[in-house]
Amino acid sequence: MATASEIAAVGVIGAGQMGSGIAQLAAAAGCAVLLLDADSAALSRAVASISASLRRLAAKGQLSQASCEDSIKRIRCVSTVQDLRDADLVIEAIVENEDVKKKLFVELDKITKPSAILASNTSSISITRLASATKRPSQVIGMHFFNPPPIMKLIEIIRGADTSDEVCAAVKSFSERLGKSVICSQDYPGFIVNRILMPMINEAFWALYTGVATKEDIDTGMKLGTNHPMGPLQLADFIGLDVCLSVLRVLHNGLGDNKYSPCPLLVQYVDAGRLGKKRGLGVYPYAQKSSSVKP
Ligand code: 3HC
Repeated sequence: MATASEIAAVGVIGAGQMGSGIAQLAAAAGCAVLLLDADSAALSRAVASISASLRRLAAKGQLSQASCEDSIKRIRCVSTVQDLRDADLVIEAIVENEDVKKKLFVELDKITKPSAILASNTSSISITRLASATKRPSQVIGMHFFNPPPIMKLIEIIRGADTSDEVCAAVKSFSERLGKSVICSQDYPGFIVNRILMPMINEAFWALYTGVATKEDIDTGMKLGTNHPMGPLQLADFIGLDVCLSVLRVLHNGLGDNKYSPCPLLVQYVDAGRLGKKRGLGVYPYAQKSSSVKP
C-alpha cells in the first residue's frame, strides 16, 4: 500500500464542484490527477474552473505562475474507470446514492492496483458498507471535503470498521500535503461535522416554520451573534436543501432520535424543487448566472 509520500497518481471521480476542487488541490500538491466523469461537458467546465481558480491564486501571488501552469498540466481528463488502473489513491465525489457508490467501488476494486487506497467524499453514507462491497475493506476510507474545497481548511477522515491504521495514517499525511487540517471520525451517521451542523440548520428551519423570526433575522442572528460566515439558512442554500434533507434522514434513521426529524418546511421546499443556490431558488432567490462548475 502507498504511503502518503508515495501517492503520486490520484484519481478523482466526479467533475462537479467537489470533484473539481479536490482535483485542483491534488494537482497543486504535485500529484498527477486523473479526473473522471462520463459527461465530457462537465469535464470541460471543471478544467475551465480549476484553471481560473489557480490563475486567480497566481495573480494574488499565492502561487508562482510556473506552478500554476504545471498544476493545470498535471490534470488529465478521462472517461472510464479503466483509466484509473495506475492510481495510488482514488477519491470519489459522485452522487450521494449508496447503490451507485457501491457499484463504483466494486468496479474500482477490480481494476485498480492491489495497493491502491479507495476513498469516498460522502457526506453521510456508511464507509463500512461501501468497504464491504470490495475485497479490500482495510484500504477503504472516508475523505470528507468541505465546500468550496480549495478554501475550506478541513478534511474529515472516516474510518470504516475494517480500515487499517496504515491507511488512516497515509490518508492523514496526504491530506496535510494538500494543506488541510485533519479530524478523524468513527463511522457513525453524519460523522462529526454534519452530525452537529445539520441539526443546527434543521433548527433554523423550525424557527422559520414556526414564525419565530424572518429568514433574514435568523441568518443575521447566527452571523453576527456567533460569528458564522453565513447564516444557517443561507448555508443550507449553499450546500443544497436536498443534500441537507438527505443527511438529516440518515441521522434520523441511523440514530433513531426524533430530534433529527427534518422540519416539514425543509421537506416542502425540496418537494417543490427549491434546492438552493444551484437551482436559483431555495430559502432565498438567486440571480442565475452561467456557472463554470455545476454542483
Ligand atoms: N472556489 C474557490 N474559491 C472561492 C470559492 C469557490 N467556490 N468561493 C469563494 N472563493 C474564494 C474567493 O476567491 C475569495 O478569495 P480571496 O479572499 O483570496 O479573494 C474568498 O474565497 C472569499 O470569497 P468571497 O469574498 O467571494 O466571499 P466570502 O468572503 O463570503 O466567502 C465563503 C465565501 C468562503 C463560501 C464563505 O462564505 C464561507 O466560508 N461560507 C461557509 C462555507 C461552509 O461552511 N462550507 C461547508 C459547508 S458543509 C459541507 O460542505 C459538508 C457537506 O457534507 C454538506
